[in-house]
Amino acid sequence: MPLVNLKEVLDWAEERNVAVPAFNIDNIDIAQSLMMAAEEERKPIIFAVGQGAIRTGRLELLAGVVKTLAAGSSLPVVLHLDHGASFEQTLACIRAGFTSVMFDGSPLPLAENIAQSVLVVRAAHAVGVSVETELGAIPGVEDGIAHSGPAKVSLSDVETFIHAVDTDALAVSIGNAHGMYKTAPKLDIELLQKIRNLNAEVPHLVLHGGSGLGDGVIRTAVSNGIRKINVATEIRLAYLEGLHSAAGSQDIYTHIAAARNSIIEVARAKILLFTTKADERGNL
Ligand code: 13P
Repeated sequence: MPLVNLKEVLDWAEERNVAVPAFNIDNIDIAQSLMMAAEEERKPIIFAVGQGAIRTGRLELLAGVVKTLAAGSSLPVVLHLDHGASFEQTLACIRAGFTSVMFDGSPLPLAENIAQSVLVVRAAHAVGVSVETELGAIPGVEDGIAHSGPAKVSLSDVETFIHAVDTDALAVSIGNAHGMYKTAPKLDIELLQKIRNLNAEVPHLVLHGGSGLGDGVIRTAVSNGIRKINVATEIRLAYLEGLHSAAGSQDIYTHIAAARNSIIEVARAKILLFTTKADERGNL
């Protein structure tokens, strides 16, 4: 079926009190393997194209791949820009057929983040594309871009931001970080609950840095309102480990199959975990 936008799948998740995974894709094999995992679990999937993929000239290429995968599937599929760096970049993605764009203004002063996010929302919503924004830069390194910043978002900033910006989804920093965690992270669930209970305008809440979070932490975050969880590092590691496991073979399709199986195993486990609360009616 044609691509759907982010709001549609996050509304689906909200109705069921589950989260939808957003997996970063860096090449065709990763995207194809992730689609196979979603097909096996019969759940919606968000393909996220990040700054590393864009820097290496893959914006249009990966957009084409995801559109083709969606056309061959009956599942809801979203093509999403991860950590959009500028208004112009979000426009380039919309032109390439993305159905969701993230604008990451979290390193900016609040007023500037609001001003730029409002522009992105106006442009995207005019053509039915969803928008994710971010508050409180998430620490760690993502596609070579490092954020230090406060480890947690301020509640009053969230209140000001969501009043001013009609964002469909909001990434919040509540103790999460990009990359694998060196020590077990403590998510501030109390802060998450306070954000969720702010008022009726609260957009769908997004958790970045999904790699390396324990199952219990994920379940608690989801039951407290997280509707999208981003996973990049664990998928990349699964791909690389799959390739390494076939290092003795000279046959490229042996390598591809090993990488694919490795990704499918990790992705299926994430899909199952994130949609744990879904009953039979949750399956598509
Ligand atoms: P991880 O690499 O920690 O999974 O984070 C991914 C992410 O948040 C992408 O935006």
